[in-house]
Amino acid sequence: MKILTIVGARPNFMKVAPIIVAINKHNGRIAAGAFERSESSPETIQHVLVHTGQHYDDLMSGSFFNDLNLPKPDVHLGVGSGSHAAQTAEIMKKFEEVLLAEKPDAVIVVGDVNSTIGCALVTSKISFDSSGSRPMIAHVEAGLRSFDRSMPEEINRIVTDHVSDLLFVTEHSGLQNLHKEGISLGRVHLVGNTMIDSLLTFKDKAEESTICEKLGLRKGRAENGNPVRPYALLTLHRPSNVDSRDGFLSILAGLEELAKEVPVIFPVHPRTRQRIKEFGLDLHAGPIAAKSNGNLETPEYAGAGIMLTDPLGYLDFLCLMKHAAIVVTDSGGIQEETTCLGIPCVTVRDNTERPVTVESGTNVIAGTKKEKVQEAIRRQMRRTGSAAMPKNWDGRAAARIVDILIQAHSARNSSHQPLVPQSCV
Ligand code: UD1
Repeated sequence: MKILTIVGARPNFMKVAPIIVAINKHNGRIAAGAFERSESSPETIQHVLVHTGQHYDDLMSGSFFNDLNLPKPDVHLGVGSGSHAAQTAEIMKKFEEVLLAEKPDAVIVVGDVNSTIGCALVTSKISFDSSGSRPMIAHVEAGLRSFDRSMPEEINRIVTDHVSDLLFVTEHSGLQNLHKEGISLGRVHLVGNTMIDSLLTFKDKAEESTICEKLGLRKGRAENGNPVRPYALLTLHRPSNVDSRDGFLSILAGLEELAKEVPVIFPVHPRTRQRIKEFGLDLHAGPIAAKSNGNLETPEYAGAGIMLTDPLGYLDFLCLMKHAAIVVTDSGGIQEETTCLGIPCVTVRDNTERPVTVESGTNVIAGTKKEKVQEAIRRQMRRTGSAAMPKNWDGRAAARIVDILIQAHSARNSSHQPLVPQSCV
């Protein structure tokens, strides 16, 4: 069985890493003769990793391959940045050539970025022979809906789900959404969350990070019993939050009070850095003097204020999330990671496609108005009590996905039916 997996942008890497580990384990079991005689002879999986190059910087891509022990991509499309149309079109053109050359049995796409929709669309229309056969499309993190179609990611989610053959869902809302949209639940599986698989795998290793010392949040090493001082962690990159000066300033105003109390560590996404420059924002007003070029400063001991850093690697960021008093973000994945870690999170958006993080987790949806952000931060700083772990967020999502893919492949082979577009219901 040949599986081709797509990565493109930063949030894809931690979702794919555990799937590759699960495939390698499966192959290892075959090599070790570990399958029971009664089990139908399992096939080795040949895996091809394709990087579209949507994110290309070392800070947005390369460092994640090191931190997550990801293998070097077998194919790199080198697409880079562009408008949505230009970027997606470039991904599609280049990926079609790879698909025709590789002819895999299944294509795995993850999340909701332009690489996800681009590669899913190409696979849904490819034809390997006169019967129109094509690979199965598996969407990891299917079914999430913000019900806000002004978000590019929402369009990517909807289209990807509707062309996929296997839909792997992270939370119960995903099952409901797909059912309401007429997708047959026979194709949908609540497997858990592969991003949480990664988090659970690397949670302890993240303690080896020296980021707290580098940022002046801890004097001396953790192993010598030095405590981390209270701090907040901030990420902002949604175009709707950072592309308008007024909107961006309103969120920052909502953070002023918090920044007087504790240092607010702000690893800045390239888009956001660009806007800070364009809008001429001075974010270094607090006692911390982090350089605007984004190099990590090593202050004597961090005081309050907003402290800008370059985008951080996976392990450094995980370490900062684990020790934060509060996380303020507009990211989707961070809402889930803080739920798993039990860290209070304030989401500066009007909605979430991940309602389980609010219903049973640690997340509050604050909107983006100054007063609302302030109020949510105050409430979350007082938060006590733990969060319930959503179903199947247990570190085994990727293993479930690989098992289901193998079963689907063998069912397809035994029926000798070419996979052609199927009706929705
Ligand atoms: C993309 C995803 C978003 C995800 C985010 C995580 C889509 C539609 N959006 O948004 O869902 O949450 O990634 O970061 O796919 N840039 C660099 N270096 C890089 C990559 C980008 O400097 O390695 C800069 C470029 O100026 C680019 C801008 O960042 O124009 C935005 O990158 P892009 O891939 O268009 O979207 P993101 O905002 O990162």
